Amino acid sequence: MREWHALTQDSKSRWEQNAEHWDDYMGDESNRFHRELIRPYTEKLLNAEQGQVILDIACGNGNFSRRLAQLGANVVAFDYSAKMVERAKNRSEHYLKQIDYRIVDATNLNQLLELGIEKYDSAVANMALMDIAEISPLIQSLHKLLKPSGFFVFSITHPCFQPPGVRKINEEEDVNGVLVSKNSIQITKYLTPEPYKAIGIKGQTIPHYMFHRPISYYTSLFFEAGFVLDAVEEPSFQKENDQQKFDWYDIPPVMIFRFRKLTC
Ligand SMILES: C[S@@+](CC[C@H](N)C(=O)[O-])C[C@H]1O[C@@H](n2cnc3c(N)ncnc32)[C@H](O)[C@@H]1O
Repeated sequence: MREWHALTQDSKSRWEQNAEHWDDYMGDESNRFHRELIRPYTEKLLNAEQGQVILDIACGNGNFSRRLAQLGANVVAFDYSAKMVERAKNRSEHYLKQIDYRIVDATNLNQLLELGIEKYDSAVANMALMDIAEISPLIQSLHKLLKPSGFFVFSITHPCFQPPGVRKINEEEDVNGVLVSKNSIQITKYLTPEPYKAIGIKGQTIPHYMFHRPISYYTSLFFEAGFVLDAVEEPSFQKENDQQKFDWYDIPPVMIFRFRKLTC
């Protein structure tokens, strides 16, 4: 099954066009979404330690690669957008001994295998698998790239609550003279995998491709490739920190998985 491999070139060209805006927006500190949802929970599942070798897949501007380097890891980080990798390198001058940036297409099995067989203690992909047109080569290669008992942690937009066509609804109800605000989402499809285009960051040059897959689709691919699922997180913004007018704190926008390599 080649999923949407035919869309890879178009998808890459869109990320090349968006790379500068993406990097300008994320900067050195990343956005709140990354700082409060992705980073802490990913770090918890990854448990990076001094001297470990970690693969950062679809690294974007290298925001998490630098964090891993700060934690003492040696990182190989890749993205298929040359502009994104150039921006990542520009921001990483203090870490160049620890981070080896490469341009690699995650849909290309041969390129992936060249990253080094049984070289990695763990691998990570933040907010990227739903942007990759075909994920089977990546999952198959990870079983070979990871050391025995190595694991892969990845975050994606929550497939249940952010499928294509989701409608976000805010309603106000007068309950005995008190105005109560309620949020909900309306979804019309979930099970059918499909590509669609979306805006990740306001002002980006062109919408990028996203590839919706239900949760069981992901788990099946990993189980078939010889992984077990051993941790899941569904982080959401904390109510007390949320300055937004309407809370969405009970509907997690992301899902984070940890799959561990099984060895016979
Ligand atoms: C939403 S960004 C996330 C970047 C970074 N991991 C972060 O959390 O900031 C998705 C990234 O996936 C990359 N990407 C998408 N498809 C890819 C592929 N086939 N191979 C390598 N990188 C890919 C894009 O270029 C982009 O940098």
